[in-house]
Amino acid sequence: MRQATICIDSTALQYNFNRVKQLAPTAKIVSMVKANAYGHGVKHCLAALAESDAFGVACLEEALEIRTLGYQNDITLIEGVFSADEMPSVIEHSIECIIHHQQQLDWLRAHKTAYIAQGLKVWVKLNSGMNRLGFKLPEIIDVIQLLKNEGFTCVLAMHFANADADHPLNEQQKSQFLQVKAACDPILASCCNSAAIFKWPELHFDYVRPGIMLYGASPFADQNVHALDLKPVMSFTAQIIALNTIQAGEQVGYGSTFTAEQTMTIAIVSIGYGDGYPRAYLQPNFVAVQGQLTPVIGRVSMDMIAIDVTGLDATLDSEVELWGKHRLVDDVATANGTIGYELLCRMTTRPRRHLL
Ligand SMILES: Cc1ncc(COP(=O)(O)O)c(C=O)c1O
Repeated sequence: MRQATICIDSTALQYNFNRVKQLAPTAKIVSMVKANAYGHGVKHCLAALAESDAFGVACLEEALEIRTLGYQNDITLIEGVFSADEMPSVIEHSIECIIHHQQQLDWLRAHKTAYIAQGLKVWVKLNSGMNRLGFKLPEIIDVIQLLKNEGFTCVLAMHFANADADHPLNEQQKSQFLQVKAACDPILASCCNSAAIFKWPELHFDYVRPGIMLYGASPFADQNVHALDLKPVMSFTAQIIALNTIQAGEQVGYGSTFTAEQTMTIAIVSIGYGDGYPRAYLQPNFVAVQGQLTPVIGRVSMDMIAIDVTGLDATLDSEVELWGKHRLVDDVATANGTIGYELLCRMTTRPRRHLL
């Protein structure tokens, strides 16, 4: 059987969840499990995250999957509903909405009695400069006042555009958030993703919303997961299916982009872009064989790659780690000109998945 495998380490996931608790001891935790738990498989991740105060998802379908799996934790729809006809289902399954535009406000108010009776909070999104979703100042203050007057419990929510970097917009976003919070006092508040949880303890408030850190990848370009004391959750591995000795001048793979400079042993590994392993590289890329990093050579095919195993004790059947504990997904992403988030989320269904 083809051995392309995604292994989910639930102990590592729990460890990372406990890191959030350690960093934000007084805040409630909304674990972000959207996009199939960042590609890890929601059904494999929820048990390790069961202590979460809530789960954050991007749409009703993702929320309903959590209910189908039997979890009764609060759920927040971080983009709210997409049409009025989703409201009855939201209420029936006890799912909390963000509202970020006037129509969502109207749909919510039309279901006011049932929504409030279910004990659901409404998350009201501030657009403080990211210009993705949200009401701007000063409109948001009127929206929140109206909702509070009607008996809704509100959470003021915001998302940083640059929490992972020093950027002038950070100060503007913080100051607008604090301004709205003060104007709407008392109000629950939430503005921290993973990077902000690490950087700004003073902004943890009532709810933090960790995503990438739970999965053991770094939100920062200049700090890896070891420095952040997080553990990689996904191990993506495959198997050596052929070993070849090639001589100086011989070439490898599609496009013959790699030419050997001396005699070398290469291994063919049964993994490719058909599994979600990226094809385009800006920098040399590596895999780990028996914990040792070794280069990928030539082009990535749909089902195979070639790696240099000269001098390594590699045999047919040896396991190769594409990313995991030895080769960090963030390092593969950097070589690929992207971020760990994207590589994790775009895994295909072909590799077998199992839970540790
Ligand atoms: C609104 C919101 N909150 C929190 C997160 C979690 O972010 P991160 O994965 O960087 O922790 C996201 C992710 O995109 C988000 O959209």
